[in-house]
Amino acid sequence: MIELAAVSKAYAGAVPRRLFERLSVSFEAGEYVAIVGASGIGKSTLLNLIAGLERADSGRIVVDGVDYTQCDDDALTALRRTRMGFVFQAFHILPWLSVAANVGLPLSLLGRDGPEAKRRIAEMLDAVGLGGRGASEPAELSGGELQRVAIARALVHRPRLVLADEPTGNLDPANARQVIELLRASIRREQATGIIATHSLAAARSADRALRLTATGFEPVASADAVAAAAGESIE
Ligand SMILES: Nc1ncnc2c1ncn2[C@@H]1O[C@H](COP(=O)(O)OP(=O)(O)OP(=O)(O)O)[C@@H](O)[C@H]1O
Ligand SMILES: [Mg+2]
Repeated sequence: MIELAAVSKAYAGAVPRRLFERLSVSFEAGEYVAIVGASGIGKSTLLNLIAGLERADSGRIVVDGVDYTQCDDDALTALRRTRMGFVFQAFHILPWLSVAANVGLPLSLLGRDGPEAKRRIAEMLDAVGLGGRGASEPAELSGGELQRVAIARALVHRPRLVLADEPTGNLDPANARQVIELLRASIRREQATGIIATHSLAAARSADRALRLTATGFEPVASADAVAAAAGESIE
């Protein structure tokens, strides 16, 4: 479903930074994969490349049969809106919109605002344990609740691919565990593919497989202990 072939990416800037050199990796449809690795190694950049938010310097990225080298920015935006969902570390919940409107944002962007959209929003709020909270303002919710809103929003338009960047970064261990379990269960239920970048041991363990991103490429992470070592910081 996702294929990166010989992808290179460097950042210019005051201190130029070479992140990937001919990086190759692929992910199957329906997989739920954790990406671990040291801070600054390029996990967020990798997710941004897969999302088409950033361009590779060279190499090929093909997602769901779409070759990014053949796409202009509008095509990538359309691809993102229809087929992808995101969960960000910092929630990115819009404070001036109600909880329900936040969850429904991907549907609005697709021009879907009718009764069916309302039903779907209610269904997603129920699924994340926030049924009846749709009219609340985000300021009235806890950190864990906001992250659940973010998960509902990432899945509301039934994306084929869900990308999550440190989805438990701001949460205490108990909330983090809940959110991880919910994210995994939601992705499964929607039969989506999930890629999650994380420092959390629990999040890495919850995945079908974990990969460690290093300066030279990906390494599989085999055992739970190796996951612990690779994740570095642990929430447990
Ligand atoms: N727009 C940019 N311009 C210049 N350098 C950048 C830019 N974005 C990221 N970098 C650099 O690229 C490197 C990788 O960043 P990235 O955010 O992908 O790391 P990460 O693995 O997600 O780290 P963390 O675990 O801390 O979130 C960092 O050294 C960062 O400073
Ligand atoms: Mg990051």
